[in-house]
Amino acid sequence: MTKATAIIVGANSLLSREIAKQLAEQGVELALLAQDPESLKEFTETLATKAQVYPLKIEQPQDIITTLEHVWQSMGGAHLVVVNTGLNSYDPQLPWLPEQDIITVNVQGYAAICNTAFKLFREQGYGQLAAINSIAGLRGGPSVAYHASKAFASNYLDGLSMHAQRLKLPITITDIQLGLLDKAAMQQSRLWLSPPGEVARQIIKAMQKAKRKVYVTKRWMLVAWLTKLLPEFVYNTRHWRTKEERKAAQAAGKK
Ligand SMILES: NC(=O)c1ccc[n+]([C@@H]2O[C@H](COP(=O)([O-])OP(=O)(O)OC[C@H]3O[C@@H](n4cnc5c(N)ncnc54)[C@H](OP(=O)(O)O)[C@@H]3O)[C@@H](O)[C@H]2O)c1
Repeated sequence: MTKATAIIVGANSLLSREIAKQLAEQGVELALLAQDPESLKEFTETLATKAQVYPLKIEQPQDIITTLEHVWQSMGGAHLVVVNTGLNSYDPQLPWLPEQDIITVNVQGYAAICNTAFKLFREQGYGQLAAINSIAGLRGGPSVAYHASKAFASNYLDGLSMHAQRLKLPITITDIQLGLLDKAAMQQSRLWLSPPGEVARQIIKAMQKAKRKVYVTKRWMLVAWLTKLLPEFVYNTRHWRTKEERKAAQAAGKK
């Protein structure tokens, strides 16, 4: 394998597209996995390198394994696998079905992707697995299954990293702890929301430096540090509002 190659799993999100665009500009050939591959076809034509698109059925672990193995064979291996899949929702009534969906995507699907990628890297003898996780995994929170799933995701990478070291193989595991991302990409003046272009740039830089864990953007390291430090009685009394409640409060002139 002479050309740099990368597989992006969960390629349809705005952030994944930014990462794909910036990697392609650096000459990396891509395989993009998404729920709806058709919707990515037009995008791949704008990329600076070759990019193949494949379907991703994250609810079916066996399907994920087969697809990744097929992609691997078609590309003749890969240097990098980026996992950017995730589901989140918040309902203060905590109905079971959304919780179940989050666990299926963020835990079962995520583990199947990372496990398969690690197996393929082990057989190849080298590579880098990078997953985009969240500082929401540092402690429990209002989106109960989401916060818990992000703790699982980070912990899963710790274990894979341990295995790579025991095997004495140059397999890099990179845990990207994301803060908030400005998906609308139009409110760049908002202090804590980072535009996807900058987020993607920092993620690629961290991957190239083979970081084990990184906070993106950097300022979220401070929030992570504070989140871990806050005593339970302070952490638990933060006031969580639904979107509707926030809108109502804003309309009433409150902050
Ligand atoms: N947005 C933020 O502010 C933020 C903050 C912290 C951490 N993060 C983390 O960053 C990661 C990506 O977040 P994002 O904001 O980019 O989310 P997003 O735009 O909703 O993208 C999520 C990705 O997961 C894929 N996905 C979700 N459900 C799926 C399913 N059932 N089958 C196959 N693919 C599925 C989506 O695929 P399709 O596009 O094909 O639907 C999409 O590519 C997540 O791990 C999230 O926890 C995000």
